[in-house]
Amino acid sequence: MPIANKIAPGLDEVDIIICGGGVAGCVVAGRLAAADPELCILMIEGGENNAGNPTVCHPALFPTHLTPASKTMVWYKANKSEHLAEREYILPTGGLLGGGSSVNAMLYSRPNKGDFDAWNTPGWSTADMLPYMRKLETYKGPGGPEFHGNDGPLEVTFDAKRIRKTEDDFLQAIEQLGYPIIDDLSDTVPGHLGFERVGKTVSTDGERRDAATAYVHPLLNDSKHPNLHVLCESKVNRVLFDETKRAVGVEYAPNPEYTVIPSSTERLRLTVRARKMVIVSCGALGTPLVLERSGVGSPDVLKQASIPVVANVSGVGTNYQDHHFMLWPFKTNLAPCETLDALYGGRMSAEEAGVNGLIGYTGCDVHGKYRPSEQEVKELGPDFEKHWQAEFRNDSSKPLLIMASFNTFIGDHSMVPAEAYFTIGSCSTYPHSRGHIHITGPDWEDPPEFDTGFFSEDVDVKMQIFGYKVAREVARRTALYRGELPLGHPEFPADSRAALVDLDTPLTASGKSLEKIKYTAEDDQAIEKYLRKHVGTTWHSMATCAMKPRSQGGVVDKDLNVFGVQGLKVVDLSICPKNVGANTQITAYTIGEKGADIVMQELGLAGAKQEDGQLNGHAH
Ligand SMILES: Cc1cc2nc3c(=O)[nH]c(=O)nc-3n(C[C@H](O)[C@H](O)[C@H](O)COP(=O)(O)OP(=O)(O)OC[C@H]3O[C@@H](n4cnc5c(N)ncnc54)[C@H](O)[C@@H]3O)c2cc1C
Ligand SMILES: *[C@@H]1O[C@H](CO)[C@@H](O)[C@H](O)[C@H]1NC(C)=O
Ligand SMILES: *[C@@H]1O[C@H](CO)[C@@H](O)[C@H](O)[C@H]1NC(C)=O
Ligand SMILES: *[C@@H]1O[C@H](CO)[C@@H](O)[C@H](O)[C@H]1NC(C)=O
Ligand SMILES: *[C@@H]1O[C@H](CO)[C@@H](O)[C@H](O)[C@H]1NC(C)=O
Repeated sequence: MPIANKIAPGLDEVDIIICGGGVAGCVVAGRLAAADPELCILMIEGGENNAGNPTVCHPALFPTHLTPASKTMVWYKANKSEHLAEREYILPTGGLLGGGSSVNAMLYSRPNKGDFDAWNTPGWSTADMLPYMRKLETYKGPGGPEFHGNDGPLEVTFDAKRIRKTEDDFLQAIEQLGYPIIDDLSDTVPGHLGFERVGKTVSTDGERRDAATAYVHPLLNDSKHPNLHVLCESKVNRVLFDETKRAVGVEYAPNPEYTVIPSSTERLRLTVRARKMVIVSCGALGTPLVLERSGVGSPDVLKQASIPVVANVSGVGTNYQDHHFMLWPFKTNLAPCETLDALYGGRMSAEEAGVNGLIGYTGCDVHGKYRPSEQEVKELGPDFEKHWQAEFRNDSSKPLLIMASFNTFIGDHSMVPAEAYFTIGSCSTYPHSRGHIHITGPDWEDPPEFDTGFFSEDVDVKMQIFGYKVAREVARRTALYRGELPLGHPEFPADSRAALVDLDTPLTASGKSLEKIKYTAEDDQAIEKYLRKHVGTTWHSMATCAMKPRSQGGVVDKDLNVFGVQGLKVVDLSICPKNVGANTQITAYTIGEKGADIVMQELGLAGAKQEDGQLNGHAH
């Protein structure tokens, strides 16, 4: 059984069970299976196998996963929030083999110089983590070999499909605003902030590279690793403990979404035993729920869900963080082959996009991390300035926002005229607000109680107001700009200097340098109103089982062991004690590499120092 669906035939006991086959789970499974062919490993993933799925392998098709009926996502519904204009926000995360990496936007970005250092945990400093960041990648881009790896499983390229005309146009607009253009924003050099031509987790020949393709499928496909078992379409319900509180197995259930006759397997509960260890890697919204269903969590939460307490670890499910995200669409004069709108609007077939290369295009070529000037900080008001002083002012490596440009409208194309657009994504890197997620019952089907926390702190709204203004100034300085797409912008008062425009020629046509728009307090209110109605996730969920002292709400120690029990680790973005100023997939891969190394050392396998010929060199 190298790969199976729903039920693991004949497999009652293995050495290590990995719950969740997302980014970190695939890294751990692949590394451990390659390190010791005697080590029997089972990874259980709730969603389907990603291999051979065209919407996974063709970069341009990634938004198809985000449509409401998509089975490749796990949807977490949050409670109604007064901070979000009374919305009940529904937050999707990757829900198939490869997790987020099989459906994400493929943008490559590492944490900033200070991020791992700020976790303040022995073994997890930036200097400690750089070897893992190098080990995971085969990097074919700018930047020195001291920072980047050249024989890891994950291919990172800069020469897959790009649209140079718009890429150059964005960068000149960014330079006009005075932000630096940097060759390699991911080199972990202190103070390096600015904009870059972004790298992509896409192969040179235009196919997505995800964690399953990089770490798991190569071993499943060769005959030398019968020790690696992957079970898809199966939800882990809980971890089982013996009387000494040692994790000895898991209980799982076939996922009825993939069952022809749901009632036949709906209530089936199956178990598999683990001789050495259980690792939970269900993502920041899945992992705390598994722990709580297993009896590890806050006694109050467990009591309400009728779960007996195994370990009182009150931090489980708390401290939830993400990056808040807005997409700002603009009109252009671009041709159909220069954006993805014709493909998404049904005016270009996937075959045509295959011929002209757009099918291999992620849509995003420019990415940047930036901070406000001291003057701009003042303009954001005294409360924001106080927050800036406490969290940002002293650390010049710490961006307030991330920006990414996309050559398309992102959303429902039936709502917009059949034209060509670009969209500026604006993402707050270190939001101040915190949310939580908890179980409400003993079964994985019981809906969780989830509060995103988004915008519960006013400084977070201020960050996004500033992000809107910068996005518009960048857009206004491009040659492709023809005004704002009204459906994606605030409604400003009719006489406002911020009123939306509709143009036949770019603003830069005159050659004169542009004045910035001056916004009134009323304009800012209009932006805030729009933000509360529309702000959402960057799909960067994290921090719900933080690696910090138990007394401070921590859930795992520096070796990723869950407090209060034995033989149970968490390895995924849940463990981040603090946010990172980057898109998060590389952080998840890095945590996977570090987690695999910790386990290998505990099992007496050679770990980081061994030459792992099985996985390295597989990228091509
Ligand atoms: C649409 C989208 C776009 C993104 N774009 C980018 C980008 O361009 N660049 C970037 O750097 N990052 C991006 N990200 C973020 C990145 O992909 C995630 O941060 C990363 O995948 C998190 O890794 P993880 O291992 O913590 O969890 P995940 O990759 O989410 O894996 C968790 C896995 O656990 C499974 N699971 C959950 N519950 C259970 C259960 N009970 N039983 C069994 N299995 C379970 C899920 O199905 C999933 O496969 C994006 C994410 C999404 C969703
Ligand atoms: C592994 O095999 C699957 C199924 O046969 C195939 O789709 C996939 O491309 C292969 N992957 C690799 C990395 O060889
Ligand atoms: C759980 O632990 C917390 C402190 O970590 C403590 O305050 C609380 O009383 C404990 N609850 C129970 C039921 O033991
Ligand atoms: C920032 O640096 C200044 C000068 O070095 C120092 O006085 C101040 O305490 C620092 N503030 C924070 C929040 O670290
Ligand atoms: C949040 O939602 C859950 C599940 O739907 C519900 O049980 C709970 O009462 C809600 N909590 C609040 C504070 O509205």
